[in-house]
Amino acid sequence: MHRPDPHSYYDAAQPKARRLRLKLGVDFTTKRLDGEVVLEFGSACSGTLDLDTKGLDIHTVQVPGRGPIPWELGETDAILGQRLRLTVPEGTQEVAITYGTGAEAMALQWLDPEQTEGKVAPYLFSQCQQIHARTMVPCQDTPVVRIAYQAEVTVPEGLTAVMSAGPTGDEALAHGRHLFRFSMPQPIPSYLLALAVGRLESRDLSPRARVWAEPETVAAAAWEFAGVEDMILKAEGLFGPYPWDRYDMLVLPPSFPYGGMENPRMTFLTPTLLAGDRSLVDVVAHELAHSWTGNLVTNASMEHFWLNEGFTVWAERRILRILHGDDAAALGWAMGQKALEDSLARFKDEPQLTLLRMHLEGVDPDDAFSSIPYEKGARLVAALEREVGEDRFLRFIRDYMDAFRFTSITTEQWCAFVAAKLPGALEAVDARAYLDQPGLPATAPEFHSVQLDAITLLADSWVGGGRPSAHQIAGWKPSELQVFLQKLPRQLTQADCAWLDEHFQLMGRGNYEILVEWLTLAASADYEPAFPRIREVLLRVGRMKYLRPLYGALGQHTRTRALAREIFATASPGYHGLSRRVVQSVLEAYPV
Ligand code: BES
Ligand code: ZN
Repeated sequence: MHRPDPHSYYDAAQPKARRLRLKLGVDFTTKRLDGEVVLEFGSACSGTLDLDTKGLDIHTVQVPGRGPIPWELGETDAILGQRLRLTVPEGTQEVAITYGTGAEAMALQWLDPEQTEGKVAPYLFSQCQQIHARTMVPCQDTPVVRIAYQAEVTVPEGLTAVMSAGPTGDEALAHGRHLFRFSMPQPIPSYLLALAVGRLESRDLSPRARVWAEPETVAAAAWEFAGVEDMILKAEGLFGPYPWDRYDMLVLPPSFPYGGMENPRMTFLTPTLLAGDRSLVDVVAHELAHSWTGNLVTNASMEHFWLNEGFTVWAERRILRILHGDDAAALGWAMGQKALEDSLARFKDEPQLTLLRMHLEGVDPDDAFSSIPYEKGARLVAALEREVGEDRFLRFIRDYMDAFRFTSITTEQWCAFVAAKLPGALEAVDARAYLDQPGLPATAPEFHSVQLDAITLLADSWVGGGRPSAHQIAGWKPSELQVFLQKLPRQLTQADCAWLDEHFQLMGRGNYEILVEWLTLAASADYEPAFPRIREVLLRVGRMKYLRPLYGALGQHTRTRALAREIFATASPGYHGLSRRVVQSVLEAYPV
């Protein structure tokens, strides 16, 4: 027996599924999926087969044409869920399982109409990364295994289904139901399975890209992301031809717990990106870059998550640099530095979670999530790039993509590849310090630009009375203001807050990065005029990146703690299960 992924019951000695055929009935009244999955092995196999499940009701297990086969559900593990062990007879090519999803399926959020923009129809979306696909489909829920898939999804008439796959047709059925078909011909890890159902419309942005959203927001979304084809072209210039055919995007309701999710052929995005001035499209550059780093070359388990995210952050800033220049990229690195420092502070008592090469036996990957694999990882990649030079590094990156396309790899495989292609480079940048030691190495690359250094200087002069001039304020782009706010002291006075709001008009900002940075400062200062806006944001938005700092900052004063608890009591039923868990842990850490 060999289990290569601590977060899956997958056993490498057993047959691997190559392809899934899925049938999903979406039932908004019971908030359950009624499912059938056929696992195809690609050749005859037999013996024991262990699958991952969590909260699923398994109805039947059979070999099509041959009848039922023995199966058994194991004990429930709080992190892994339940092992589904099948005994597969000689000569089996495929196994069919019928099942229903559970009420608490973490991959799924079922929204009532009031939680959507249009407020007239319900909505369902999935989020399978890290290990939630098993709450939606019984499968080998580890990126070590890659599967192609096809799916048939039945939904109430009037709603549209989209998946991380190409659409292959749809038809009206009896009893007010509608069927949508999909096909994903390339092999993907299970965490990239994705489904959303709602009142959806789309707008074409280029021959290979379109954006989906509710009718109320689709025009705004099309405007915000109009530049996506240009991004795809720039990314192709760096990493080679786009490997997934179409690049479509879906703008979700505001409870979506992440900024973006790189579901292949259908990136999922938070509506908080709709700033109205295209200032937050770096998230699209990031999810697009995952088409190569993450989706094409994939981490073999969450212990190697930095291979996905570190490379993608580096790639995102590389695309940004081509599109908007060195200054814009330097600001991106500065925002990342702040996120990295916050995460290092959060894990000061758990230094093992600050290594890039993580050891996660018995650890819930959602609890290990932070900006460290992103930003420490990106700094290791940038250090290597500086060490060998940009041109040689880009050639290396293309070799890397070619060597490992459509495979899932470990940090150790990556190191061996770098050692072979760029001899001496790992030692020169002290890669082991990034991979196996806590914190950020003192030799990590730093990023400067004239403009970034000026903003830093100004923010540093705040305590001594330094204030940006009206001229500076008028000239700043949103990203410059964001970095300025991030660099201000965390503990401002109420007079400071009043000055900032008056001069920057912060309360009415549509850019959520700026708005939440400001509200976090205001909450820390117990600044009452911001309370209504804090309440509004926390009641509307479920993006964990915003909930954690805002609820955290509210923990510092008696009356803001009371405010936080009161808001959470109202907001919590509308939050995604993951978001609810994060906020609960923040509230539990409040002083009593
Ligand atoms: N793949 C991640 C989101 C994710 C990570 C979901 C871990 C579940 C578990 C996605 O690519 C991501 O990193 N999103 C960021 C965007 C950013 C770094 C530009 C986010 O959601 O904020
Ligand atoms: Zn990412």
